[in-house]
Amino acid sequence: MNVSIPTPAAAGPDWLAEIQPAMRDVPASGIVEVFNYGRGRQGLIPLWVGEGDRPTPPFIADAAKASLDRGETFYADQRGIPPLREAIARYMTRVYGEQPGSGGFAPDRFFVTVGGMHALEIAAKMTVAAGEEALIPSPAWPNFAGAVRLAGATPVFVPLERGETRWRLDPQRLEAAVTPATRLLIVNSPANPTGFVATREELVAALTIARRHNLWILADEIYGRLTFSGARAPSFHDVMAPDDKILFVQTLSKNWAMTGWRIGWLEAPPALSPVIENIVQFTTSGVPVFAQRAATAALDEGEPFLADQVARMRAARDIVADGLAATGRVRFARPDATFYLFCSVDGEPDTRTLALRLVDEAGVGVAPGSAFGPGGESYLRLCFGRAPDEIAEATRRLAAWLKR
Ligand SMILES: Cc1ncc(COP(=O)(O)O)c(C=O)c1O
Repeated sequence: MNVSIPTPAAAGPDWLAEIQPAMRDVPASGIVEVFNYGRGRQGLIPLWVGEGDRPTPPFIADAAKASLDRGETFYADQRGIPPLREAIARYMTRVYGEQPGSGGFAPDRFFVTVGGMHALEIAAKMTVAAGEEALIPSPAWPNFAGAVRLAGATPVFVPLERGETRWRLDPQRLEAAVTPATRLLIVNSPANPTGFVATREELVAALTIARRHNLWILADEIYGRLTFSGARAPSFHDVMAPDDKILFVQTLSKNWAMTGWRIGWLEAPPALSPVIENIVQFTTSGVPVFAQRAATAALDEGEPFLADQVARMRAARDIVADGLAATGRVRFARPDATFYLFCSVDGEPDTRTLALRLVDEAGVGVAPGSAFGPGGESYLRLCFGRAPDEIAEATRRLAAWLKR
């Protein structure tokens, strides 16, 4: 007997029509297009992604191996294992001092997450929802807007201004962007991609606006130690009071060459613990213990490696900044922190096309500024977190291309 089973239309279902528009309509990261275009090219020097070229140092990796050898392969405390939360508290006290503003750095302020990105996701989920707005100084790392959109809310961009020597945040512009729907202000300092480092005065101004309008601040200070002045960057920890509504995003990724480990933390008022633990439980259910052991080693023993990273990045920064400035065609504010040079090229306003051409014609992979939102369109972002020799070669190639 023949039974006829109805089959879907020949073209198959329209899968994208079947899912939630809020997820479907989130734009892809603009860095990925150039990355996919140039991926696997022989001899290409990749400066497009925000990571260094060094593998994680052995003293960190060994802590993970020892953990696995001990059989630490079970579910972990969803807040993070106590030794790591204690190590974070020790590290924060060492770097930021006894902060009366934050009530001191007790371990119960820290929640271990799957990289800084997961901390950002949790912070966005807790503070904004559909119909609400988050202010983002722009150009900005695209994941801020992405996390806000995934939470159902709307990113509102406030332009940063590029001065001769540094990028600036104009408090009046920031406050003018506040509406009755604004709930969150994202402050990334030092910033990806601009290298903007907020002064203490700019942080106070942002905090004052947040207080006046009862906004949460999401403080992404992950590049706070990658500075070339010898001191850490100013932090909201320096200016806040205990009851300020501030959530801090942090990560092990950049300081200790651990981008692939996916481990970071969220710093929040301890009273939010039940909510954060719930979100962790219902998203990732925690971070692998061996990665947490590695993070503990990085925080407790990682200062010499970090100092070396900074020295290397500083040398690379000088090479690329001096080399590109010498072409006479490249404009930028020399970054005092982060490992990004954010520059415009005279006569090249379309940096998406420019980035694709540089893959083919210069053998250098850079990120188009259009990936970083409003105000970024005429810029390129170059990550100089690589061996100074390689940065010198990339600079030679770019300079030769610009002079051709
Ligand atoms: C400003 C900023 N915050 C957070 C992150 C997240 O880092 P990760 O998720 O690797 O810890 C990045 C990574 O590029 C970043 O640039």
